[in-house]
Amino acid sequence: MASFALPQLYKDSSEKIFIATKILLEKYKHLIKIEENASIFEFGVGDGSHSAKLLYPLYPGDYKEIVATDLSQAMLNYAKNNENIPRCAFSLFDVACETVPEDYLARFDNVFSLFTLMLVRNTERAFKNIYAMLKPNGRIFSVFHSVLPTNQVYEKLSRHPIWGKYDHNINISSYYNESQPEKGYERALKQAGFDDYTVQVETFKYTFKNEKEWKDFFYSVNVVAPKIPQEEIEDYKKEFFKLIENEVLIEDESVTDENGLNSRHVTLSLCVLSATK
Ligand SMILES: C[S@@+](CC[C@H](N)C(=O)[O-])C[C@H]1O[C@@H](n2cnc3c(N)ncnc32)[C@H](O)[C@@H]1O
Repeated sequence: MASFALPQLYKDSSEKIFIATKILLEKYKHLIKIEENASIFEFGVGDGSHSAKLLYPLYPGDYKEIVATDLSQAMLNYAKNNENIPRCAFSLFDVACETVPEDYLARFDNVFSLFTLMLVRNTERAFKNIYAMLKPNGRIFSVFHSVLPTNQVYEKLSRHPIWGKYDHNINISSYYNESQPEKGYERALKQAGFDDYTVQVETFKYTFKNEKEWKDFFYSVNVVAPKIPQEEIEDYKKEFFKLIENEVLIEDESVTDENGLNSRHVTLSLCVLSATK
């Protein structure tokens, strides 16, 4: 499972995600409807900083509760220690779990999630779970990469003679092989029982200021690296960064980074998903 383990590195290197979230929340805020006294559920809260700064200010002051969840205890501990959010309980939870805890069933008015769905392998089960957790007329709103920009790197690593023994397939997004991944998300929403849904696609470009910036960013979102033994990690990093350079980054000869080298960027599709039960 795609559980993050490096909260501080993620927080320090995820500015691109923060900016994209800010722009998309501003553009699509009309899709976010929260009743007074709402019970709110979030999955994939991560280090908590993006939600605290961008999402929670959109909630009505009198919301009843926030249940903020993640698959990673390290991320939850970090969020708990660094964000002070009223009436918020942090809890370990896999959105694609086999059985939803009984006290979550039909409890929530709203479900939110930022930059997590592209990490969930069993999207169909995740949406079924969310459907079961929502009250009638409850709503989900989520922003995420339509597929991870690094999917082809993880595919290569999963077949690699040395690194293939670590399960890189956990990083591969659900609809990676489809030409329009958003259609896969729409199918899964429909299959879960949602009849009113939309998944919009937006294109973004992440430009990196220097080599350290792209290395930190891609390393912080690699969920396999923290499982690699210390004695192998430097060799693994070399291979991982070489693949990122060759397979993911675009070198721009007309623009230089802050060190005077050709700048690197990646262009990605982001999905904005909204559905009502
Ligand atoms: C890219 S981070 C996003 C964090 C934060 N929402 C943000 O926008 O910065 C994705 C988070 O989702 C969590 N995650 C991955 N798969 C999950 C799952 N199946 N259920 C719940 N959380 C999951 C990871 O542990 C990680 O903390």
